[in-house]
Parts: sequence; structure tokens; C-alpha cells
Amino acid sequence: MAKRKREYFSEEHRAQWKTRTGFIFAAIGSAVGLGNIWRFSYLAYEHGGGAFLIPYFAALFIVGIPLMILEFGIGHRERGSAPKSFHSISGRFEWLGWWPVIFVMFGIVVYYSVVISWCVNYLFYSFNLAWGADPNSFFFNDFLQLSSGPGDITGFSRPILSGLLLVWFLNWLIVYAGVEKGIERATKILMPALFLMIIALAIWALTLPNAAEGVKQYLRPDFSALGDTGVWMAAFSQIFFTLSLGFGIMIAYASYLPRKTDLAGNAYVISIGNCIFSLIAGLAVFGTLGYMAGVRGVGVGEVVDQSVGLAFVAYPQAISIIPAFPHIFGVLFFGILVFAGLSSSISIVEAFASSVMDKFHYSRKSVVSVLCLAGFLGGIIFTTGAGLHWLDITDHFLTNYGLTVVAILECVVAAWLIKTSRMRKYINSVSTLKTGKWWEYSIGFITPAILAYFFITGLYGEIISPYGGYPIRWLLLIGYGWLIITLLAAVAVSKIRWRHEKNEV
Ligand code: ALA
Repeated sequence: MAKRKREYFSEEHRAQWKTRTGFIFAAIGSAVGLGNIWRFSYLAYEHGGGAFLIPYFAALFIVGIPLMILEFGIGHRERGSAPKSFHSISGRFEWLGWWPVIFVMFGIVVYYSVVISWCVNYLFYSFNLAWGADPNSFFFNDFLQLSSGPGDITGFSRPILSGLLLVWFLNWLIVYAGVEKGIERATKILMPALFLMIIALAIWALTLPNAAEGVKQYLRPDFSALGDTGVWMAAFSQIFFTLSLGFGIMIAYASYLPRKTDLAGNAYVISIGNCIFSLIAGLAVFGTLGYMAGVRGVGVGEVVDQSVGLAFVAYPQAISIIPAFPHIFGVLFFGILVFAGLSSSISIVEAFASSVMDKFHYSRKSVVSVLCLAGFLGGIIFTTGAGLHWLDITDHFLTNYGLTVVAILECVVAAWLIKTSRMRKYINSVSTLKTGKWWEYSIGFITPAILAYFFITGLYGEIISPYGGYPIRWLLLIGYGWLIITLLAAVAVSKIRWRHEKNEV
């Protein structure tokens, strides 16, 4: 215990990745998640298939990669979690490190783990195709027992709760074991397995009859959709979510890298690797939808009607009619979602744990145990009949506004306090792949300007038409409220004095 505690007392003893590959797997593991399959596919689907890929890749190169380079630079230079890094840049900005790790730990991962629990259940349901002849009614009525609205909190679902317990147990098991022995070791197994599984699923899906129709829908660019700001906003917020940017994760992960490391090269490998995964997942999903449309004799556009239902309604429908080994097809699909989800949820827990360990020097074991218990308890509300409504609202506000504001402020801090030129010089001094001057313009002007535009337009849109048609009091409470309460908590924690090593020993 004393040895493990000492790990965090000083920079020399800061936990480290054992190998560069280990770090890349862990960071891709954080990036590749439910977002790549569940979120990406339905966003691509909703926004006209191929039309979505253009803003998606634009967002990747204009904002995603530059921001990942920045987050790596911050964590590596300051050798700390997000709060520690911002504290060392300027004491006045420590809250900016706390805010994302708090709303991600006590917001995003809380519902995210519930979705992983759905996937765990569906993995088991695949063995006997338990959703039967009407997967839509099975999902919404029997499984979720969906209530009439966020205020109608009916009893919790036992299967979802049991799955949630398992998910938090696994999160605990992995993060408790530490950076190298837990996260690095787990992601070295999970990530290669995940890539092999998604390739197998895509090949399988593409060889089904009529799969080509689905793929055509997916890859055919519809340039008219590019005039719609909503499509661009969805693509930019998806890039944040999928690359785990603005979460505080990449800052913490980079702080565990050795002094000499290719920060920029890693950022390219990780972000492009993540997007390739999404593209392959899209092929698997759309190929399967094409097959289902063919069997039913309808257009691909008619086989799905609910965004969230793509994975839990349309896919089960398709699995049931797969000509050979449908059970294996189902286990493969939901197994991919479970693996991808877990490799991301552990990174979220780590980002928060690392922050608490940096500031208060509590032992990893106690921090991770308390966090995982809190995560499980916090998730219970999302296992009730109102769970999907709560999930929908919190996901919308935390990802569209929380992550965006954090990223804008990170750029402001980089431009005004650190100076982008100095940060680029630092990144280049440790990286093999050199970053050009374009990066300074991107972080100094382009990225914050684009994000601020989306933030303002989005917020204006909320006022004109409140999100999802939910009662305004619920949007205020669990949408805006969640953001504001976590912001206040961040400011409060940042005011607490740092505990230093010598006080501890
Ligand atoms: N980056 C993770 C995902 O896409 C959070 O699911």
C-alpha cells in the first residue's frame, strides 16, 4: 500500500505506461466506445448517411486532431491530471480541470454504464433471441419499461441493474489494478479483440444479400445536407465524444507518458484509428440494414425509425432473420459494444481518480472503490422507467454544451496563458512528427470560433424550441442544472488547498 501510494507522491513516481503501444491501445480504447457504433451509426443514419461523413471528417481534421494534440501537450508538459495541469498553468483555472472530470464522472459515465448494461443483457438475449417477434415492444415496454416522461420515475429494471453491477465491478477491477497493470493490460487484450471482431462482423454483414443497398445509403454523399447547420453540429459534437476530448481523459493519459514520446504522432494514430473503427462499424450496421430491407421488400430508409433503437430494435430485428448462426451474429455485435464501452468507461474513471490522487494523495484503492460504488449508485435512476428520458436529456446537454465549452476554454488557456507558439515548441521538442504553424491558427482562432458559433446557435435553438419536447422544468433540472451544479462543485473543489507529499508521509 505504502509503495502504491508513493507512486503518486512525486513526478518521478508518477505511474507510467509500460510501452508506447500500451498507451496507444489505452487511448484508442478510450476513444472507441459506444459512440463509435451506437451513436455514430444512428447519427450517420439520421443525417442522410454519406452526407454525414463529410462534416465528420472535416471536424476530425479541423478540430479533433488539433485538440487532441493540445490535450496531450497540456498533460505531458504539466505531468498531471486535468486539475493538476490547469492548476500549474494558472491557479485561477484549476476549476477548468475539475469541471469536465466531475460532469463526466458524475454524468456521462453514469448513464454510459447503463447503456453498457443494456448491451450485456442483449448479449445474453442473443443466445435465444429473447426479443421475439416484436423487438420494438420488447425493448421499450418489457426491457426498459419506459415511462411517460422524466418525472414519471417508475420502479427500476432488475436485469439492467444486475448488468450495471457487473459493469461497475469490471470498471473497479481494471482501474483498481493501476495504469500499467490494470488499464494497459486490459486494453492490450480488449483492443485487438475489438478490431478483429468488428472486421469479422463487417465482412459477415457485407456478404448478406442486399447488403450493398445499405452500404450505398451509407456512403452515397448527399451534398444538399451540407447546407444544414444541424448536420455540422452533430458531426462536431460526435468528434468530441468519440475522441474523448474535453473529458480530461487525454490530459491524464498523456501525463503517464515518458518524457520523450511522439505526442503528435500518437494523436494522429489514435484519432485516425478511432475513425477507421467507426467507418467499419458503419459498414457492418448499414450492410445489415440493407439485408433487412431486402428481406422485407422495403427501402433501407424504412427499416429504422428510432435513433436509440438502431442498436436495440433494428439490429435485433435483423439478427432474428440472419440465415445462418444468428445467435453468434448477435453475440458478436453486442460483445463488440460491451468491449468498446468498457475500454472507454475505465478511462473516465481513471481521469477522475487521477485528479483526486493528484490533489489529495488518497490511495488509488480507496479512491477507485469509492468512485465505482458512487457510479453504480448514481446509475440506478437510469435503470428506472424514466431512465431513457434522463439519459437523453443529460447526454444532449453534457456532450453538446459541456464538452464544447471545456474545449473552447482549453483553447483560450492555450492561446492566452501558455501561448500556442510555446506549446507547439514544446510538443515539437518531444515529438518525432513535427506540427506546423497551422496548429497555432487552429487552436488560437479556428477551433474556438467554430465551437463558439455552434455553442451559440445551439443554445439559441434550445430557447426557440426546447430539446426533445420535454417539459422545461426537467430540462432546467437535469440538463442545464447538471452542468451548473457540476460547475459549482468544480469551483468549490478548486478552492480547497492542495495536500503535499510531505504532509502525507
Ligand atoms: N469516446 C467514447 C465513445 O465514443 C466515450 O463512446
